[in-house]
Order: sequence, then structure tokens, then C-alpha cells
Amino acid sequence: MKKTLLLVLPALALLAACSHKNEQQQAQAEPTFHDVMKDQVDKHADEVWDDTNAAVGDKGGLDPAKMTDDMWKKLAEDATAVQEGAQQIAQMDKIVVIKPGETIADAGVPGGHSAAEVQAGIDKNPQGLRDHAANLAATMGDLVKAGNAHDAAKAGPIVDSLDGVCEGCHLDYWYPDQKALVEKIIKENK
Ligand code: HEC
Repeated sequence: MKKTLLLVLPALALLAACSHKNEQQQAQAEPTFHDVMKDQVDKHADEVWDDTNAAVGDKGGLDPAKMTDDMWKKLAEDATAVQEGAQQIAQMDKIVVIKPGETIADAGVPGGHSAAEVQAGIDKNPQGLRDHAANLAATMGDLVKAGNAHDAAKAGPIVDSLDGVCEGCHLDYWYPDQKALVEKIIKENK
């Protein structure tokens, strides 16, 4: 009798350890804002720019003659991936910037911003951030459509405007203290 109990106990301990591990894994599985920004939005937006760089026309936009079927297909796929990342952010209930111990780009450099500063800004107006993300998702939805239709006249201006869509949110939520300065420079260069 005693012997079986002894055998059962380690098995129970193991079970408890496993379910604890599962809980931990579940907590970790929830991606942070930073995870989605880096691994979904930025990564795939870089691919969108890579997909189209070789086909930029003489006056900007996209030269349809330089876009092959494969390039259109890849553009639509990569734009879909950005769209999905943006949607994920737009649907975040509680927006957590980083996991404990992580840092974000430029956090340590003069003029840079810490994750805690970014978090404080988001906490003040989380819906504004979701709206920016929804705007990016909608823009990418249009690019997916244009890509599937091989429509360079529609896709070109969207790709040209993409940087501004990213920057709009960065100026509100990443380095808002630089917004006035950046807007002044843009105005002066118009
Ligand atoms: C909804 C708002 C929002 C949109 C839209 C957005 N960003 Fe961000 N992004 C942020 C915030 C806030 C940070 C700072 C927190 C961080 O670094 O994770 C950031 C950080 C970054 C970083 C630095 C990541 C790091 O290592 O810390 C890169 C690169 C970046 N964004 C690229 C982009 C690109 C490219 C786009 C457009 C395709 C884009 N972002 C659109 C809000 C946004």
C-alpha cells in the first residue's frame, strides 16, 4: 500500500508541474505590443518595400512593366501579413508594450524613449492607438486588393504613403515630444 502511494505521489507532482508549466506558457503566448510591432508590422512592411523597390517608376509610384506576376503575388501576401499584425493591435483589449526585462529601440540613447514612457502614453488614450492600427490595417487591405488586381495605379500611391501611416502613430505614441518639430520640418519642405 505504502509503495503504491509513493509511486503515485511523484506522478501527481509531475502532473502539477506540467499544468503549472502550461499556465506559464499560456501567459507567455500572449504577444506584447512590441512583439507584434517588431515581428509582424515592421518585418512584413520591410518586405512590402522590398517587393516594390525594384519597380518604382520614374516619377515615383509603381511601373506596371516592372512588376511580374510573382512580385504581385508576394506583395499581396506581405501586405496581408502587415494587415494581420495591425488588426491584432487594433483588437488588443489591454495593451501591454513589453514583457518585463525587455527594452525597445532607442530606449537608452539621448532623446530616446523607454517602454514605460510609451506605456504611459498608451494608457492615457488606448483607443487612439487602436484607431491608428485600424487605419494601417485598412490601408493594407486596399494594398492587398490592388496587388491581387495587379493594379499599379492604385498600389503605387499606397506604398508611397505607407511610411506616413507608420509615422502618424509613432508621432502620437512613440516620440510625441517630437511631433511639433517634425510637423514644422514637413511644413517647411512642402
Ligand atoms: C498603432 C500605432 C503604430 C503604427 C500604425 C505603427 N507603429 Fe511602429 N511603433 C509604435 C510604437 C508605440 C512603438 C514603440 C514601442 C516599441 O518599440 O515596440 C513602435 C516601434 C516601432 C519600431 C521599433 C521597434 C523596436 O525594436 O523597439 C519599428 C521598427 C517600427 N515601429 C516600425 C513601424 C512600421 C514600419 C510601421 C508601418 C508599417 C509602424 N511601425 C506602424 C506604434 C505604431
